[in-house]
Amino acid sequence: MSVVVRTARPTDLPGIQRLSDQVFRSQRPGQHMAEEFPWMYDASNARHWAIALDGDEVVSIAGAMVWPALIAGAPTTAATTGSVATYPSYRGQGLASQILDHLEQDLFREGVRLMQISGDLPLYLRWGARPVGEVAWYRLTSAPEPRPTDFRIRPIHPGNDAGLVAQLNQSRSTRFGRTRGQLQSMLSLQPLTIVEKGVPIALLVETSEGPAAYAIINHRPFGGRAASRVVEWAGDPQALLFALASVPNWPEAGMLVPVLSEEIALKSALAPAVPLRRQPVSWLAKVINGPGLVSDLHELWRERCAQELNAHPVDRARTVIHLGDSQWTVDAPELAEWLFNPTAPSRPEALNAVWPVPALWSEGLNYV
Ligand SMILES: CC(C)(COP(=O)(O)OP(=O)(O)OC[C@H]1O[C@@H](n2cnc3c(N)ncnc32)[C@H](O)[C@@H]1OP(=O)(O)O)[C@@H](O)C(=O)NCCC(=O)NCCS
Repeated sequence: MSVVVRTARPTDLPGIQRLSDQVFRSQRPGQHMAEEFPWMYDASNARHWAIALDGDEVVSIAGAMVWPALIAGAPTTAATTGSVATYPSYRGQGLASQILDHLEQDLFREGVRLMQISGDLPLYLRWGARPVGEVAWYRLTSAPEPRPTDFRIRPIHPGNDAGLVAQLNQSRSTRFGRTRGQLQSMLSLQPLTIVEKGVPIALLVETSEGPAAYAIINHRPFGGRAASRVVEWAGDPQALLFALASVPNWPEAGMLVPVLSEEIALKSALAPAVPLRRQPVSWLAKVINGPGLVSDLHELWRERCAQELNAHPVDRARTVIHLGDSQWTVDAPELAEWLFNPTAPSRPEALNAVWPVPALWSEGLNYV
């Protein structure tokens, strides 16, 4: 067997889709990954796939989408990674590992600082990704009492409202950016809801001053057997609650609202409710360009810290962090933990004043 690993081209997409459907959709005949995740599988995104070919046949794949991201107000570039698959007869030979390395190198050259990858396979941990961030899940068992406000609510029209949604989305610190086209497509498809067989709900709350919040809800997934879930929102937390109150026919399991540790306003809007559970976010992160990321976030350090904070590459895998007179050499997994993990045990105390920064929330519209 002579297998070649390379970046995909648009002509490789049929082979990518075949493998992907066979691995991820064999139990759901008639459903196709490319229909659920149209941007990921679009020909224009082919260069964000790495593949292994045995002759003409695509035998192993990993795909990504590249996003402008905003971390605590600072612009950077991140990629979500998914659809990692190898045909059963080719597994256990290191193909997925090689493909992730290849994809990482392509994304590094494109200026991506950080990759997120769903799941927590040992393979991903060995590759250098680490759990980052924590989400507290609140379960509301009944619709919140709407307070008297001048909120008005209406369904989001994917075509006309993408601009308003984008504007609100900018206001969230833990966000990925999206092009208008991606937003429109994802608002109309709501891939996560398709996957979990829920009722797609997308609501916009407005006041006389303008848009106040939007909410994307995966309602009554799995035929109403599971709780409904807020998959994405941005804006005023009270307006979010107003939107939830307008959703009819809550399932018995209620409505789940994910709250990241830095979302203090949402937490207090939900009080006295307490989280049902806290858990790491359901994806891992790998910092693939430490100095680049530290440089993108430079202004943020200046606000948080009296001493100068800098980072320099030692090589592809290691970064030196300087803070005042101190310095540390870290590898990619350690840097991800120091930056994003609120409870990272190895982070030097001197760095606690500046790190962690908000974790990026890529569920919902960004689901790949
Ligand atoms: C997960 C998946 C993509 C891995 O693909 P793969 O090509 O077999 O991956 P690798 O060969 O790089 O790694 C698999 C294992 O083989 C081992 N391995 C790697 N190179 C090896 C080699 N040369 N010889 C023997 N074993 C090797 C790895 O250590 C790894 O061990 P682990 O499972 O204990 O972590 C594949 O099993 C798959 O398609 N699964 C179903 C889809 C899925 O779950 N995708 C992930 C969604 S989050």
